Amino acid sequence: MREIKLMIFGVVILLLAGGGIASLALRGALTTNMGDQPSIKPQEHPFEPPPASVPLGKWEKTLSREEAGKVLRNPVPPTLASLQSGQRLYEVYCALCHGSEGKGGGPVAAKFVPPPDITISFFQQRPDGFLYETIRSGGPLMPGQGESLSPKERWDIVNYVRDLQRK
Ligand code: HEC
Repeated sequence: MREIKLMIFGVVILLLAGGGIASLALRGALTTNMGDQPSIKPQEHPFEPPPASVPLGKWEKTLSREEAGKVLRNPVPPTLASLQSGQRLYEVYCALCHGSEGKGGGPVAAKFVPPPDITISFFQQRPDGFLYETIRSGGPLMPGQGESLSPKERWDIVNYVRDLQRK
């Protein structure tokens, strides 16, 4: 009699433990959180080029920011139109972190890494190409904004940041 009781007890314990493990495993599979799904997340690059593929047409070569600072020349003159376009784009893509004046403190800065004041002389001395590549591929922490901006638009932002730095 005692053995049977012990056996039933053992089986119940096993079932409970098994159920617990199974429900833990299923929690991952059957999540109801819509944020947690196999989709492209903000700031994620949707497609990498296939390995060993050769870019045709207007594909840009990937440069480090240092190289870009040396070899890229700003082809867009800082006309009023370019500055206006740069300002509009800066407000959309940069001000959320860097603030409207480039001094930091945008609404996302508090939730992310607080960015530096990009109007100080240290950043003024960075070449245009370095700034362009920062916008395109980001910094050590800053996410690149290249996916959403054309080369012309990135140079417009470069021109506008230079304008902010002069103010
Ligand atoms: C999600 C927040 C975020 C966004 C959006 C963002 N930045 Fe940044 N940025 C940072 C942070 C944080 C740093 C400092 C760390 C780093 O360099 O990665 C930084 C650094 C920089 C620097 C200094 C790089 C250097 O070392 O010279 C420049 C210039 C800059 N950002 C410009 C921009 C411009 C222009 C845009 C819009 C196209 C932009 N950032 C969008 C967060 C952001």
